[in-house]
Amino acid sequence: MIKSVTVAEVALPEVVVVGHFQNEDLSATLPKRAAWADAALAAAKRGEATGEAGKIAEAFPVGEGQPQRVIVLGLGKRDKFKPEGLRSSFAAVVRRLGTTKQTQVLLALSPALDFAEASLEQAGRACGEAAGLLAWDNTVFKGKATDKKERPALTLWGDKKGLVKGLQHGAALATSVNYARSLSETPPNIATPAYISELAKKLAKECGLEFSVLRGKELEKEKLVGHINVGKASENEAHFIRLKYTPEKTGKKKDKPAVLIGKTVTYDTGGLSLKVNNGMVGMKRDKDGGCAVLGAMHAIATLIKPDRPVVALLCSAENSISDEAYRPDDVLTFRNGVTVEITNTDAEGRLVLADGYCWACDKEDPAYIVELSTLTGGVVTALGSTYCGMFCDDDKLRARIEEASGVSGERVWRMPMHQEYRDMMKSPIADILNSNPNRKAHAGQGAAFLSYFVKEGVPWCHLDIAGVHVAENDGGAFVKGPNGWGVRILADLLAQE
Ligand code: BES
Ligand code: MN
Ligand code: ZN
Repeated sequence: MIKSVTVAEVALPEVVVVGHFQNEDLSATLPKRAAWADAALAAAKRGEATGEAGKIAEAFPVGEGQPQRVIVLGLGKRDKFKPEGLRSSFAAVVRRLGTTKQTQVLLALSPALDFAEASLEQAGRACGEAAGLLAWDNTVFKGKATDKKERPALTLWGDKKGLVKGLQHGAALATSVNYARSLSETPPNIATPAYISELAKKLAKECGLEFSVLRGKELEKEKLVGHINVGKASENEAHFIRLKYTPEKTGKKKDKPAVLIGKTVTYDTGGLSLKVNNGMVGMKRDKDGGCAVLGAMHAIATLIKPDRPVVALLCSAENSISDEAYRPDDVLTFRNGVTVEITNTDAEGRLVLADGYCWACDKEDPAYIVELSTLTGGVVTALGSTYCGMFCDDDKLRARIEEASGVSGERVWRMPMHQEYRDMMKSPIADILNSNPNRKAHAGQGAAFLSYFVKEGVPWCHLDIAGVHVAENDGGAFVKGPNGWGVRILADLLAQE
């Protein structure tokens, strides 16, 4: 769409964007002395200027000191308006500008958005995010046989302080989301666990984070049996990657870290319980939980800078097949002493995540744990791509995540946890199964399994992102492909600290 977005003052705007609420007279909210006011009114008179959210109408004023283009952007009905809604409506403007040669853009939204500075900042943030997200480059893997189109580099500015502040925040946050998307897009022959580990190391160096990684013998020493077994069949060995952000001044109250865990399966063939009927295609994105956690760490270190330490654990392995693969019928003894009978090697995510939860509870003394994983097809059946499945019985943590979700627009829906689901995971020969072969409550089984690896009293939240981590179509602030789901909700969660 566009090449980049910079937030900087534009001396001579080439484009002015004006907001227009449905059924309102635009002239009432225009700065009267603006040179482009007449052009805006002319545009608002055109048939397409319905004021519906995301509808745009344009006018092209001529004359000294005039912008070349005035865009009237529909904001929908005033009483229904939410600043977050601008993410997709403003995207229409960015998409339009992606096809023009004009790059210097002034957002004259404040007369219409006659709100408090805080809402104005939210509105600016949504616009900054939209532009930043549409600057994601999805042509990295295009080669010599494709002519790449030149994309314009936009400069945005707002007509009020709050708007500008929001634009800066939104554009910066989008950089972190785009980082996650680019890694998600990277194919499995390149993005191996070792590659992701190197990337995390580089990120740590650039952003001032601690970095460490365990692999091979070290995994055995630490009894990270999920990693050892899931990764066994692949020549790309499993990596357990750890990053830590430490705030500049640690307050006594907030010295326990938030721990973010990400499923980072670089490819999921299903293992010996091989995926069939095209079920394998797209499984390069089985690392998207980890991608989101990495993107969130970028945002946390460079933008959010919370007062609480944050630990990121990426559980990374490739679930492949060979004569050395782990098998259905194997029994594994985890770090916390829980034994697991493998019934299905395609339920691999929970095995590497179990290592992550054990480690977090043993070693990190977490204030709380939030874990993201493309864990089950079951959650896709239950919620589609509309909501992420949220498993969290801690009221306080859940409320905080719901609040963060409201800001980021990444929707979560609470799913039930119950002792009966835990009982479903019981094994006749070991403590638990990694999957109950009946077809009941697959998403809940995943959460129930994970619960066996969390220490009593530690607030935790499992977010099953299998349905929401990819945009199926081009639309709003996203192009078809990975959307970096989770980066913003995690950043907003930590912004509360
Ligand atoms: N990575 C998959 C889940 C998945 C499915 C993600 C579709 C994205 C889209 C996971 O490892 C898996 O294979 N889950 C199985 C579990 C089953 C074997 C218990 C599933 O959901 O079918
Ligand atoms: Mn699987
Ligand atoms: Zn998987």
